Amino acid sequence: MALRQIITGLHPVLRRRAQPVKKINGPVLNLLQDMTETMYHAPGVGLAAPQIGISRRLVVIDPGEEQLLQLINPCILEKKGEIIDLEGCLSLPGLTGEVPRAEWVAVEYLDPRGKKVRLQAEGLMARILQHEIDHLEGVLFIDKALRMVDPEGERAKEGKKSE
Ligand code: NI
Repeated sequence: MALRQIITGLHPVLRRRAQPVKKINGPVLNLLQDMTETMYHAPGVGLAAPQIGISRRLVVIDPGEEQLLQLINPCILEKKGEIIDLEGCLSLPGLTGEVPRAEWVAVEYLDPRGKKVRLQAEGLMARILQHEIDHLEGVLFIDKALRMVDPEGERAKEGKKSE
């Protein structure tokens, strides 16, 4: 495993639609491991492959309770409700915004063994899933933020980690 460099700022790879993974092979599994290590090292609660410069549909998530998910070709099947909360991104250091997200989502993805998984999530997990799947479409949280807030203030106080 190796730490990868997180791409920051408005690099074009962050704005590109990522390509689906067609075959789950050794390099794909290694990439997921590198992404996991890079996310924990940051530290962050989620990381999408475009954030390390690789335009493929791969995401890792851990909201901080050792609930690691490694998702291949994730997509949102259904959304319910709306909730506004603070959000940041490892690719946009220092920025925090108030972002409306669905309160509940149903997501489908392949796990590293190639098994199709359907997951229902709410709260922080639902927010991270939406944030990371947006990364695969070249969408950043600043596109959806209702307003930006002072990162030294509210977000730091809550001790939140970035996605
Ligand atoms: Ni992000």
